[in-house]
Amino acid sequence: MSCVMFASMQAPRIDLFEWLLRNAPNATYNLAFSNIHGLTIREYKAFAEPSFSDSFELGSNAQYGADELKQTLCSMYSCDPHNIVTTTGATEGNFLLFSSLLSKGDEFIIEQPGYQPMWLTPEMLGAYRINLPRLFENKFKVESETLSNYITKKTKLVVLTNLHNPSGVLMDKKTIISVAKIASEYGAYVLVDEIFLDGSFVAASSSFGIPNVIVTGSATKIYGLGGLHSGWVIAPPEVATLCQRMKAHTTGASSYTSEIMTARILRVARHELIKRFKERGQPNREYLRKWMRSHTEFFDWVEPDGGIMCFPRYHLKMSSVDLCSSLFQSQKILVNPGSYFNQEGFVRISYGCELPLLQDALDALEKGMQSLQAHH
Ligand SMILES: Cc1ncc(COP(=O)(O)O)c(C=O)c1O
Repeated sequence: MSCVMFASMQAPRIDLFEWLLRNAPNATYNLAFSNIHGLTIREYKAFAEPSFSDSFELGSNAQYGADELKQTLCSMYSCDPHNIVTTTGATEGNFLLFSSLLSKGDEFIIEQPGYQPMWLTPEMLGAYRINLPRLFENKFKVESETLSNYITKKTKLVVLTNLHNPSGVLMDKKTIISVAKIASEYGAYVLVDEIFLDGSFVAASSSFGIPNVIVTGSATKIYGLGGLHSGWVIAPPEVATLCQRMKAHTTGASSYTSEIMTARILRVARHELIKRFKERGQPNREYLRKWMRSHTEFFDWVEPDGGIMCFPRYHLKMSSVDLCSSLFQSQKILVNPGSYFNQEGFVRISYGCELPLLQDALDALEKGMQSLQAHH
């Protein structure tokens, strides 16, 4: 009898999540999360009908995604149902994509600084990481011309976020088209995670439609529907088919009830939800901009184009984990260490809370930074 040995796949720790989960419950000023405050049922009802008929079966499932959600996504992305795989958050979407396109020994190129799971997941699958720098000095822009320095015949995927997590900077279409063109010369795809794109304060459109570009997204961030946790992959059909097949190994089907609730509100009120997001985000960014201007003794920053996060550089000579731990201990303010985005000397600050809380939080940040400066 033959015996087959499988090496087990150990899931690497995601420092960012452990930091957030450990500290958020004790934070007075939480400037660490990347989602806008959740929609209440009252707010939902102002736009759409959340209730289901008495005969709606809670046993209902849709292995290939709820039709209602797929129809809504077709109009959001000008795509067809065969381009769509619905998922449980963008986390599952990204996982399906990485595991469908990357095998052991393949290379993937990933923007740095970046969102930790987007390199830890493919590395866990045995793929080899190549870093593509997005430099602070260059306003965190992707320099498509430099991609040729990193890409090889082994590269299968280039991984980007738009808006950029952690800086909130928008990548323009021209840049994405030239990245995609270089990638296509090597037979590689480009993943653009657009989970924050609808939060852009300047006009921006999805990159889906560029032939070798795959887009992931979800309703968890900008729309305030995190608890429903619906997400999606929008891809060329051959890639969508692989992701759909892979989904049989992850969640099988995502929550049908969530998908229906997500579809109903996005269909009629996506633009109102974006407006709700901006009504919070824009005045807060304005406040933060003034704060940053008058606190250049602590930070320089690249102003975000939207979303609710930014990635300023601090002037103190200490590690970002030490800096954030110290700010947390002294002021109960929670911000994220840059090292969790693979960039020392920076912190990620989110500004999605109510304006008075942001004002108090920035006062606390000022106190914390002053005291650290006095001791360094
Ligand atoms: C770039 C990016 N992609 C994906 C996710 C995870 O999204 P979801 O909550 O929809 O799984 C996050 C969460 O912060 C993110 O920043």
